[in-house]
Amino acid sequence: MTEHRVCPWWLGFCLTCPLFRLGQNPHKILAPYVREGWTVLEPGPGMGFFTLELAQLVGPSGRVVAVDIQPKMLDRLKRRASRAGVAERVEARLGSAETMAIANLREKIDFTLAFAVVHEIPDKGGFFSEVSGASKPGALLLVAEPKGHVKDTNFDSELQAASDAGFELVDRPKISRSRAALLRKK
Ligand SMILES: C[S@@+](CC[C@H](N)C(=O)[O-])C[C@H]1O[C@@H](n2cnc3c(N)ncnc32)[C@H](O)[C@@H]1O
Repeated sequence: MTEHRVCPWWLGFCLTCPLFRLGQNPHKILAPYVREGWTVLEPGPGMGFFTLELAQLVGPSGRVVAVDIQPKMLDRLKRRASRAGVAERVEARLGSAETMAIANLREKIDFTLAFAVVHEIPDKGGFFSEVSGASKPGALLLVAEPKGHVKDTNFDSELQAASDAGFELVDRPKISRSRAALLRKK
């Protein structure tokens, strides 16, 4: 996968396979940051490897807004959420390469998960500014990128774009085969 190439929809099946994600346990990765009743934004959920766990963590009073640009990813995500009994907590929204169309979420988001997606987005500044606009002051943002696709210097540029959009670095959590950063909206 090269910079700005979008993950093909059929790879979404592999991305939900626990064997393929060896060492990446959604509960262990997300539970330290997500609380019951929260509103969570997940850009680029694919078929929902992390979405179902996010929906469990926010509970019946919370909500997960999952924005992808591929309808096939979202169709499968909705089916998986239904089967897991959390469909009512998950809003699957179709975005475009240019915008997630989340203007209606202004300062509504408590936590954003951007896992293996930022390197696929051409306008990183625009992306982080949309996330920033949707985030409450103090909201958390976890960015993780696959080490195989994203070099250290490119990840640093992503973090710079996040900082320019109003996020500060809080931690560098260890996630298997990933470069990761936890940020907070100032
Ligand atoms: C490599 S997959 C990662 C899926 C999921 N986050 C995971 O870790 O299993 C990247 C996903 O981001 C989506 N994507 C790419 N560009 C996007 C954009 N501009 N806005 C929202 N989603 C995007 C792709 O369609 C794909 O589903």
